[in-house]
Parts: sequence; structure tokens; C-alpha cells
Amino acid sequence: MDLFEATSAMNRQPYGFIVVSENSTIKEISSACNQKWDAPVIIVVFGLPDQAWVRDDGEEYWKADAAIAISNMSLAAYALGLGTCWVAAFKDNEMKKIFHIPSNAVFFAMTPLGYPDEKKGPVKKRKPLEDLVHYDRW
Ligand SMILES: Cc1cc2nc3c(=O)[nH]c(=O)nc-3n(C[C@H](O)[C@H](O)[C@H](O)COP(=O)(O)O)c2cc1C
Repeated sequence: MDLFEATSAMNRQPYGFIVVSENSTIKEISSACNQKWDAPVIIVVFGLPDQAWVRDDGEEYWKADAAIAISNMSLAAYALGLGTCWVAAFKDNEMKKIFHIPSNAVFFAMTPLGYPDEKKGPVKKRKPLEDLVHYDRW
């Protein structure tokens, strides 16, 4: 298994990707997100809930699976010197107009992809571990 290959519940891989490099489409996506990028490529990630594993109590895992895929993809991109940015704030109805995805597919997130022209300093501060980790009980 490749280091960055994503795991998914029951190996269902209930997602897909649209690799966008057309300038006109990138502009339309920018408008659906109210954000502007200079990246040459945007990868749009959609989920396929009807193909996903569902726990006995009804909890659906397709979002977790799609998140793992994006996260691994971002790490793989970073290892190649590329930059990404997870974008979840988009107008779903505008995305539908651009891509005409089938009715069983759901837009989940997207990321611009390209070589960063600036090296950012340290990442934003994270919560201290003691706020996040519990031992044996909550
Ligand atoms: C689920 C998720 C959704 C996000 N959505 C957006 C977004 O819509 N637009 C954006 O500019 N950044 C978005 N981000 C990026 C985060 O705001 C950013 O990663 C976070 O503030 C931490 O900053 P750092 O990654 O530079 O440490 C998102 C990140 C995650 C994980």
C-alpha cells in the first residue's frame, strides 16, 4: 500500500474527484466560494453516500472517508512541494450549476493545488494537548 493511499470504512471509497484546470471553470468555482486563487488546478471532492458504510445506528461514514482522502492528498501534495487549502465554504447550488453531478453525489470540499509562491511561517497555534486528550475516562 502506498504511504498516502487513503483508508475508508469497509474499503468502500465512497467518493470521487473532479480535477479542474480550465480557467473559465476555475473562475466559476471562485465565485461559488467567494474566494480567489492563482492556483492552476482545483480538485473538487464529492461524496457518494449511497456507496458508503453505515453503522448499525445509522451513523454515516462517507464524510469521514472523504476527509481522510483529502487529508492524505494534501500530505502527498506537500511532500511533492505543492500547496493545498481545504475549502468547505462554497455555495452548493452554484457548484451544481457548474458540474451537473448525478443525484447520488454530494459536493464535500475542494482544494486549489499549485506550487506556493510564498513559504508561510509556522502553522497557526493549536490547542494544547491537555485540552484535547483524556486518559482512561473523560
Ligand atoms: C474542514 C475544513 C474546512 C475549511 N474550509 C476553508 C474554507 O472554506 N476556506 C478557507 O480559506 N480555508 C478553509 N479551511 C482552512 C482552515 O481555515 C485552516 O487550515 C485553519 O485555519 C488552520 O490553519 P493552518 O492550516 O494554516 O494551520 C478549512 C479547513 C478544514 C479542515
